Amino acid sequence: MKNQEAVTEIIEYYAGQKNPSEQENLTAMLREIQETEGCISREVQEMAAQKMGIKPGVISCIIRLYPSLKEAPYAHEILICTGDRCGSKNSKRLLETVKKELRPDKNGLSADKRILLVTRNCLKQCRTSPNLMIDGKLYPAMTEEKLKSLIRELCC
Ligand code: FES
Repeated sequence: MKNQEAVTEIIEYYAGQKNPSEQENLTAMLREIQETEGCISREVQEMAAQKMGIKPGVISCIIRLYPSLKEAPYAHEILICTGDRCGSKNSKRLLETVKKELRPDKNGLSADKRILLVTRNCLKQCRTSPNLMIDGKLYPAMTEEKLKSLIRELCC
């Protein structure tokens, strides 16, 4: 944790609100923590959950819900849809392409720690499958060629 004092202050402020465990309150807290820390590490999530009297899983659910919130200080996030419709249009192959290019660790973080690879079951955009998102922006009808060129741009 880079700035424990500031993070503690933020958590205590939001824990003291009228309904501390409401999603709106938790989201505002997480945004503020990220502004201070650059990300919301597991350590911080556990600390916040303990103070709020909720399970750490609730915090990580909220982080997954908002593409702008992140658990590690990576620069970019590639989210590949592996749902049925995208799966039937080669999304597994796209996933393999990204893995080959980025060599992510077991948490999905690329070898240079700059790009996080995550998957989701359905992005609710099935008609334009296969879909993926980069930093929260949807890239529909993805091909391996387009994907490789996008990765090259991110890696510069
Ligand atoms: S299965 Fe990919 S968007 Fe629905």
